[in-house]
Amino acid sequence: MTEHTPKKLFIKTYGCQMNVYDSDRMADALAPHGYEPVQVMEDADLVVLNTCHIREKASEKVFSELGRLRDLREERRANGQDLMIGVAGCVAQAEGDEIVRRAPAVDLVFGPQSYHRLPELIARAHNGAKVVDTDFPEEDKFEHLPAAKKEVTLARGLTAFLTVQEGCDKFCSFCVVPYTRGSEVSRPVEQVLREARNLAEAGVRELTLLGQNVNAYHGLDARGRSVGLGELCARLAEIPGIARIRYTTSHPLDMTDELLEAHRDLEALMPYLHLPIQAGSDRILKAMNRRHTRADYMRVIERIMAARPDMALSGDFIVGFPGETDADFEETMQVVKDVGYASAYTFKYSIRPGTPGASMDDQVAEAKKTERLQRLNDQINAQMHAFHRSVVGRTLPVLIEKAGRQPGQIGGRSPYLQAVHMDGPTRLIGQIIPVEIVEARNNSLIGKIVTVAEPNPASVIESQAIAAHI
Ligand code: SAH
Ligand code: SF4
Ligand code: F3S
Repeated sequence: MTEHTPKKLFIKTYGCQMNVYDSDRMADALAPHGYEPVQVMEDADLVVLNTCHIREKASEKVFSELGRLRDLREERRANGQDLMIGVAGCVAQAEGDEIVRRAPAVDLVFGPQSYHRLPELIARAHNGAKVVDTDFPEEDKFEHLPAAKKEVTLARGLTAFLTVQEGCDKFCSFCVVPYTRGSEVSRPVEQVLREARNLAEAGVRELTLLGQNVNAYHGLDARGRSVGLGELCARLAEIPGIARIRYTTSHPLDMTDELLEAHRDLEALMPYLHLPIQAGSDRILKAMNRRHTRADYMRVIERIMAARPDMALSGDFIVGFPGETDADFEETMQVVKDVGYASAYTFKYSIRPGTPGASMDDQVAEAKKTERLQRLNDQINAQMHAFHRSVVGRTLPVLIEKAGRQPGQIGGRSPYLQAVHMDGPTRLIGQIIPVEIVEARNNSLIGKIVTVAEPNPASVIESQAIAAHI
């Protein structure tokens, strides 16, 4: 270790949106200590890999990256310079010391609950110690993490993630999350509102609330009353500037009436919901410890559609869970068609050490998993394209987010999270405007602006009023 303090920071993020949010918080926590983010790993004095443990491939990627970092450090040392290497996130939490054993170049290892201690951990590592911090502390890390700075947030754009809940108590038998993220914790309402107001003031128009089980949210308000996600969304929708709210990921058992009422009543709550079922066969759902049957799930879908008839759905699916037969898999295919998902993430089952699934008999052969995944993907792709085509001819409110690839073009998102490209002036960035969808491409839509609103707050309200009538 050299004496000089590394000042250039590069964080590489793997895994879910919660890691994306966490990486930004780590950068915020280090900014007051003189660390500036850089775009290229080779320029950094401190590299943090914010890792994901969800599937074997995800966690193995980390070790190959660590190999490259070790080489980079060797080069640096040959030139009398240095590099500090940190591993954060879910692999850090799951493997702790083991990481330093497998990859001795690593200086510090810290889990998702330690980010507010990062400056202190770095200082300890500077003294030459290998630092491993994977405790689940009592204190509230969010209370200790600095709020996002306005100028930083602005650079990050019009849409922002906001973690409102962490951890999971569900213990699906395939999943590492309850072990890597700990048990369910909800952030207090006022803390969430404060952060959302900061984001809104920095120009953010759309919030995506995050949590491993976000709809299990039950934060305390200023009077000590427990507030559900529906009420939280209503409070967030009152913040000037916040026009759209989304949330992810939800568990079917936590779709409460209160939340469904929010979907019915809140215009800001977008009609696109990620609600994983994982598999269609009750036998497999039971082995997965999902604690709901296929019929339970279909009833939840009915309630959602009753509250918000234009809701589009997405999901997660695992193929080849231990014991899954061809007949079980056909039930998954059937559920995909019955629900009519507009999109979905699909995965081959990956054995995770320490989870109950890992020691189950009847592991499914890799070739079988590949074959099933292919069929499932074909079905979901067909449905996704059909969904995109179904909005052609409609006029949708689009949040304009950025300039397009071609000069004179702009791009944004429909309420259903579809990317929409159109001709238009960049002064519309930040506004929600009615756009007629004229063409569906594979992964995006082409639109035509119906009325060009002027860039003042009144026109934003006007265009939302138009949107409400579509
Ligand atoms: N908290 C979210 C996401 C968990 S991880 C939720 O409860 O839905 C995201 C997805 O990864 C899961 O929904 C599941 O489909 C998939 N997944 C989790 N563990 C897996 C494993 N061992 N093998 C394959 N896919 C897995
Ligand atoms: Fe994992 Fe299940 Fe918890 Fe989702 S609900 S994070 S899949 S254990
Ligand atoms: Fe991966 Fe951890 Fe997210 S395991 S999916 S980074 S919660």
